[in-house]
Amino acid sequence: MCGIIGYVGSRTALPLILEGLKNLEYRGYDSAGIAVISNDQLRIKKDVGRVDRLLADPNFNKTKGVIGIGHTRWATHGKVCVENAHPHTDCTEKIAIVHNGILENFRELKSELLKRKHIIRSETDSELIAHIIEEYLKIKPTFLDAFSEALKRLEGSYAILAIKADEKVILGAKKSSPLVLGVSEHGIFISSDIPSFLEHTKNVVYFHDGDIVKASPDGFNVFSNEAKVHRPIDTIDWDVEQVKKGDFDHFMLKEIMEQTETIQRAIQQDETIVKQISEAFKSAKGIFFVGCGSSYHACLAGSYVFSKISNLHVNVCLGSEFENFEHFLTPETLVVAISQSGETADTLGAVRVAKKKGCKILTIVNVMGSSLMREGEVSLLLKAGPEMCVLSTKTYTSQVALLTLLAFVVADRLEDGKNEMKKLWLEIYKLTSRTMREHIRKLAHPMINAEHVYLIGRGLQYTTALEAALKIKEVSYIHAEAFAGGELKHGTLALIEEGTPCIVFVSGENNKIIQNVHEIKSRGGVIIGVSPQQNEIFDFWIKVPEVGLLSSIIQIIPIQILSYYLAVLKGLDPDRPRHLAKSVTVE
Ligand code: AGP
Ligand code: GLU
Repeated sequence: MCGIIGYVGSRTALPLILEGLKNLEYRGYDSAGIAVISNDQLRIKKDVGRVDRLLADPNFNKTKGVIGIGHTRWATHGKVCVENAHPHTDCTEKIAIVHNGILENFRELKSELLKRKHIIRSETDSELIAHIIEEYLKIKPTFLDAFSEALKRLEGSYAILAIKADEKVILGAKKSSPLVLGVSEHGIFISSDIPSFLEHTKNVVYFHDGDIVKASPDGFNVFSNEAKVHRPIDTIDWDVEQVKKGDFDHFMLKEIMEQTETIQRAIQQDETIVKQISEAFKSAKGIFFVGCGSSYHACLAGSYVFSKISNLHVNVCLGSEFENFEHFLTPETLVVAISQSGETADTLGAVRVAKKKGCKILTIVNVMGSSLMREGEVSLLLKAGPEMCVLSTKTYTSQVALLTLLAFVVADRLEDGKNEMKKLWLEIYKLTSRTMREHIRKLAHPMINAEHVYLIGRGLQYTTALEAALKIKEVSYIHAEAFAGGELKHGTLALIEEGTPCIVFVSGENNKIIQNVHEIKSRGGVIIGVSPQQNEIFDFWIKVPEVGLLSSIIQIIPIQILSYYLAVLKGLDPDRPRHLAKSVTVE
């Protein structure tokens, strides 16, 4: 899930690309690199680690030139090292490319290029693209023709940018990986994602798979199947402040705090559209919610609220597992694909399986113009604004809120649902207050040395326990595992030792879950209760409001905060956890 960006225009490219790469680091940060054309020469700087390391070279920082490309990497082929960092060049070092994606036929391509005596310098699949373009330049009249022919040899996923030392153009192409163009008054940006150029323009162009774009200081043209095509210029309603930390130390805390507003925005949907969607739910013969990671947990929470509010059965499936159920799919099946980024390869793959079977597709995404948004007949936007932290926080609660709203709509109780969720504003304000944050921070201190944390809940609280476990482990690297409250005694109880921290989520009738807690306590567990009521069995109590079927929107918030402080107290960067990336655009 690398981040790629290119600029061509009237300004010096290097600082614009560096700044853009910093706003793309959430997509991967194993290594970074930049190539700029200066006096018809390629100037390239690349290094392992964060983008800032590229700034360490004062000579490179002076590089002039109005065209360049940059890359921040999340390695899939080849270890993390300078040689494998992008940009990659061809043998002549006249062509430079950056790539987000995976070339599935890279062994075959590499063997062919080695037979043709190409000097392959890295272990990556991406470098081969530069050499294939080099090959076609020997027989094709233009850079664009050679680039276009080279693309036909690639199998797999790609978003590619390519430049050539003696031409003031950037060529780009997209297949399954995200690519978007920004039109500013001083030049053209082409990038993996909008935050990389948002401070320069809100005018964006979305590409379709198979598109090729040629950008120069005079503008851009888009081609599809060798013919020039029109792609409209949209205006995005995000603000540049949303991609900046502002007064916060990290995006994660900023985005946790935004939930007082983002949940209210999620439920402000076009009523005509949600009522149409409601009819699709009622007429469907079989419904699947599909997602990955936190979006999968939102699907799970959604299935509980649909059961309890709409009396409707919903199947829930991981994107990567969906193909195992394709024999159940018919044109009467409704598939609801949920993804913050709208670029998760596993979820996109599931939707493509469903489309082959003629299923109706509803997508719920946060990123306007994302690949998944374009795959659905109908799409709902979370409207949570850009989520820059790798962890999903505000978009998770927005997903659950939107699914809950749909459940109310299907139950013909739209107004009830909206009124119930409007009341959450004040509750979330209190849960994210300084007092509450300090209270939770005190809990984080003794937990930072924990090796394992177990989390339990029943019903909706079970889905919250799953999401909470993911938050803790992906940002603090502490092993956290969630169980349905009734399940712990079927084996995992054996793992409880003296002092093992266990978080329990309580809502409504709670005798059974409290009984489960006694089973843990009697074996030495330390109990953290996330509950509307105190209980003498809790060693630490996090008070949450009783909000019934809305509890999965509310009860995750204290653990988002806990996870944040666990990371910070461990000296980790909560926005950029190791090995992870915001959008998993590879399967
Ligand atoms: C959640 O904190 C993680 N960042 C990850 O599990 C994420 O939810 C998953 O990769 C799905 O991403 P998506 O919502 O963009 O599809
Ligand atoms: N496959 C390329 C590499 O390993 C790009 C990886 C990605 O897009 O995450 O460098």
